[in-house]
Amino acid sequence: MTANRPFFITTPIYYVNDLPHLGHAYTTVACDVMARFMRLDGRRVRFLTGTDEHGQKVEQSARTADIPPQELTDRNSAGFREMTRLLGVSNDDFIRTTEPRHTRGVDVLWQELERRGEIYLGPFAGWYSVRDEAFYDESELVDGKAPTGAEVEWLEEENYFFRLSAWQDRLLAYYEENPDAIAPRSRRNEVISFVRGGLHDLSISRTSFSWGIPVPGNPKHVIYVWLDALANYITAVGYPDTESKEFSTFWPADLHMVGKDILRFHTVYWPAFLIAAGLAPPRRVFAHGWWTVEGQKMSKSLNNFIPPKQLVETYGLDPVRYFLLRELPFGSDGDFSHRAVVGRLNGDLANDLGNLAQRVLVMINRNCDACVPEPATLSTADEALLDAASGLLETVRVYISEQAFHLALEAIWRVVGEANRYVDEQAPWALSRSNPVRMRSVLYTLAETLRQLAILMQPFVPGSAERLLDQLAIPEAERGFAALAQIALRPGRRLPKPEGIFPRFLEETRA
Ligand code: MSP
Repeated sequence: MTANRPFFITTPIYYVNDLPHLGHAYTTVACDVMARFMRLDGRRVRFLTGTDEHGQKVEQSARTADIPPQELTDRNSAGFREMTRLLGVSNDDFIRTTEPRHTRGVDVLWQELERRGEIYLGPFAGWYSVRDEAFYDESELVDGKAPTGAEVEWLEEENYFFRLSAWQDRLLAYYEENPDAIAPRSRRNEVISFVRGGLHDLSISRTSFSWGIPVPGNPKHVIYVWLDALANYITAVGYPDTESKEFSTFWPADLHMVGKDILRFHTVYWPAFLIAAGLAPPRRVFAHGWWTVEGQKMSKSLNNFIPPKQLVETYGLDPVRYFLLRELPFGSDGDFSHRAVVGRLNGDLANDLGNLAQRVLVMINRNCDACVPEPATLSTADEALLDAASGLLETVRVYISEQAFHLALEAIWRVVGEANRYVDEQAPWALSRSNPVRMRSVLYTLAETLRQLAILMQPFVPGSAERLLDQLAIPEAERGFAALAQIALRPGRRLPKPEGIFPRFLEETRA
């Protein structure tokens, strides 16, 4: 039974040499939806995010800014923490790789790998990209650059190596036995064919700079930033104390959410490090796609990084959250454009849902003494709508378990569409004189449908869903998913004065 198992979800930890942008906001919001969904579904959740603070790239940025690396990391890490607040993110923890709880854990992990004979010292010669903090084979280079387009440099150093070459069969067996461990499927195939192609031992220390965790027993070396960074997922739940309640409750992680660019680190290196250290690999890694902005790649030279703050100030928080998860099939690449956001905001949110809610609440306010009306016998049409609404949880739960956020929202909005058709067909405004008994049944059916929709929408648009639930006078204790089937809207309950939920976006407001 997995239904009530605790749920541990993580974002990647963000490099502190960049300021938060749309890409970071995307991964974080997707994780927040998962975390909120699982909490509402009765799971005990641990939601972790944080910052990746070591490595040559950070050391270089600090040098350019002429400040000590710790100062740079303190400042920029705070920016990412601020981003979580700004996006309404419900993380339970925020880890920084410069914290003692982390560095101590990495130290032990290294020693454990060494003790098990997984690490050796040897000469390294190869290509390295500081921007990607990654090593590349000669055969992977494209026109003398990394496949990501980043500059590479030739490195010759004495390094510690992890015996990754010995892990090919065990990794392939792990993928085989855990068909859901890498998603989407196309990414899983990509990883499997990479591993089938053969693995080289991996350099896991550097001597040419010092901003990192020293290798235990040989402080001339610092630990490779990816080994350091990946370990955050276990140090945050108490590693090395693997006997602790915390570690045994939450490890292995249920889901590492990552962008497609960092898939290999999470699905090849990370499970190999873990299994080599005697720990369980994560249950699942999902790689999402990348956004372009108005048709262009986000880049320093184009200076088109969109700060999350600007997005939220322009459109409001919930429209941004909704757009990010509704616009693209999660896993695919796509384009962020002002036109597309406004289309979703004014169409799906203001028109389809906002107007529906407003119409229903205003009619109840005017025609039913502002109290939830008492329904009479329900018609087939009433029951059809109520069934569509109450059947949603099951559908949405499956989509969420597959991280198909766009399909979950599409399913919810299909019921919004049905409710709009129902309002038009039943025309409750015309019934107020001719058949008030029937009007009350229609308005009750609509208000109950809104209750179901609002409860289910909470993970995606928490603030707006909360306002809708307030207007339906739903008590705090009745907002979890258990209340979807167990409780129905209670006739007679007094409702507050209706207020709009999603204002339309007017171009003038943008200026
Ligand atoms: N520090 C590493 C992760 C270590 S995890 C143990 C890192 N950090 S990052 O700040 O560069 O990127 C973090 C995430 O932002 C990645 O998942 C990446 O895919 C995502 N994005 C960066 N640009 C993006 C877009 N343009 N679009 C969508 N997501 C993108 O990698």
